[in-house]
This record gives sequence, structure tokens and C-alpha cells, in this order.
Amino acid sequence: MSAILSVRDLVTGFDTDAGRVIAVDRVSFDVPEGKTLGIVGESGCGKSVTAFSITRLLPQPHGKILGGSIMFGDRDLTKLPHEEMRKLRGNEISMIFQEPMTALNPVQTVGKQLAEAILLHNEKCRKAEVLSRSIELMKKVRIPAPEQRLNEYPHQLSGGMRQRVMIAMALINTPKLLIADEPTTALDVTVQAQILDLMKDLQREMGMSIVLITHDLGVIAETCDEVVVMYGGRIVERAEVKQLFAQPRHAYTQGLLSSIPRLDSTPKTRLKAIPGNVPSITEFRTGCRFADRSGREHTSEQLNNRSPFIEVTPGHWVENCGACVS
Ligand SMILES: Nc1ncnc2c1ncn2[C@@H]1O[C@H](COP(=O)(O)OP(=O)(O)OP(=O)(O)O)[C@@H](O)[C@H]1O
Ligand SMILES: [Mg+2]
Repeated sequence: MSAILSVRDLVTGFDTDAGRVIAVDRVSFDVPEGKTLGIVGESGCGKSVTAFSITRLLPQPHGKILGGSIMFGDRDLTKLPHEEMRKLRGNEISMIFQEPMTALNPVQTVGKQLAEAILLHNEKCRKAEVLSRSIELMKKVRIPAPEQRLNEYPHQLSGGMRQRVMIAMALINTPKLLIADEPTTALDVTVQAQILDLMKDLQREMGMSIVLITHDLGVIAETCDEVVVMYGGRIVERAEVKQLFAQPRHAYTQGLLSSIPRLDSTPKTRLKAIPGNVPSITEFRTGCRFADRSGREHTSEQLNNRSPFIEVTPGHWVENCGACVS
């Protein structure tokens, strides 16, 4: 299957007062055409930094892509001039975030913001056309009574409706790739399911590829075709979703899986959270970063040398330090 996006050995860092820190450390994955790739991991694992590297929206001047390539068709996004990258964002690649309230302007109506977004990429669009396009987009994301909603302010909409508006904005130019960073985390479970369904339906209609970032493996199971599991700025496991859930090989993935609530488990049994905390970025070691939380003995060699990333069965990859894989 051909890939719309190929990330290879991506290294992204920040120059801080305490020196340079590496947030994404030689990460590689493909996003297959028309499919959804999930990126999962606990807080601070480098998921958003990966997304901001792809869209080149890293905080400036401190955030830098330090190595690797991000091929989007025949263009390497790490090398694209700023102006070309700006044109590409919102056209061929769009991004949506966790909290739509921060991305929307509170003092402008939804209609005005949608119109501005439409005009940004299609300067010659006439007023009547902008309005009909706005209504069409609102319908596409299934916002009821779109004409009326266009005259409302963001705070008059529910969280779910606001996220639909953000999705509408992201879809203005029918992007080939949509990057969604925790798009449903701020929403309650029912609304979360509606938004995920909407994204799936739009994907089918438009044939776009999606990168879905979440800390919730339950969301991954519902929506993704393939998944990468990140820990400490690295990918520890990568597989098709069914395979990952059927046979998780890395201790970290196994830990994440055993912390998802299951419908068939006894009510009120406590979920097993992974003990300990994600190491701070300044304490990342060269070798296995999960060692301290794995409950498994590691040799100094396993702690001090980078582990190989191996293909255990076709399409199923795991970082094998020699202790964490079973
Ligand atoms: N501007 C910055 N300067 C320095 N370090 C940063 C900066 N932004 C992010 N980092 C560090 O990069 C690492 C990865 O952060 P990132 O935001 O990608 O995590 P995440 O996986 O998206 O977590 P979350 O689930 O909380 O969103 C973290 O250790 C974070 O502290
Ligand atoms: Mg994040």
C-alpha cells in the first residue's frame, strides 16, 4: 500500500536554558493513503512534537528539526521553504487540536471565522459563494440549523459543536492528510464517539489520510488501521491495530492495554495503571527508557545502548532491549 507520508529517523529538539533536549528521537513511520494511523503514549512522550514537526509549527526559535526526513509525496517537509510550507498547511495538510475554544476567536461569530478561513485560501471567492460554502461545510460536519449557527459566537456552542466547526475549517480545501491531536480528549464519552464517527465518515467520503494522536488506546481501537506506540520520544512498538491488540509485545504496550477499562471486567475493579512516571526529558537514557517501570531486570548494556527496532512478524515492529519484549 502506498504511503502519503513517510517519516524517517525524525529527530526534533529544543534549545533550552539548560541546553539542548531531544523530544523526538529517530522516529519512523508511514501513513498509508486513505487510512488512519494512531499515535499513542502517555503525556510527554513526544506525540505533539511529532505532529508539530510534520506541520512545521514547532515553537520558534527554540524548536528545531535536527535530523531525518518527512516525505509528503516527493517533497521533504523538513526542507520546504517557509512560504511553501504555509501554502501546504490548510490546503494539503490540516491540523485540529484538543481544545477548540483556544483555536477559535471568542469575539467573532462562527460564520465570520469560517468565511475568513475560506477567503484565506481562495481570495477570489465572492460573498454569496463564501456564505453558501460555509453552510455546505457546516452541513458536512452535521451541525444542525447551520444558517442560524453561523451567527453565533463560539461560547454559544457546546464543546462537540465547536470541535465540528474546527473540523469544518480543517476540511475547507479537502486536505490529503488531517492531523488530529487529541481531538476528543476534552469531550464527554458520547460526544467523543460522535466526533470520531464523523471523522471516519468524512475520511470515507473524501479519501483523506488521518494521523490521530491520543493517550487513549480505546480511541485507537475504534478508529485506527495502524498504530505507533511512543515512549520517551521513541517508538517502542508499531503494528496493525488488530495485531497490536491481539499480541502486544512490548511491556509498555502491555501496560497501556491492561489499563483500558473493559466491558466484560467486574465493575469497580481498579484498573492497573503502569507504576511510576514517564522520565523527564533531561533524564532520558540512551538505552531502554522504560526499564525503571517495566518490573524487569535490565543489564547495564541494555540501559546504556540504544536497542534495535526489529520486525517480529511482517508489519509488526518492536524496540527490543532484550528485557521488555515478550
Ligand atoms: N517548547 C518546548 N521547550 C522545551 N521542551 C519542550 C517544549 N515543548 C515540548 N517539550 C518537551 O518535549 C517532550 C514531548 O512533548 P509533547 O508535547 O510532544 O508530549 P505529548 O506526547 O504530546 O504529551 P501530551 O499527551 O501531554 O500532549 C516533553 O518532555 C516536553 O516537555
Ligand atoms: Mg500533546
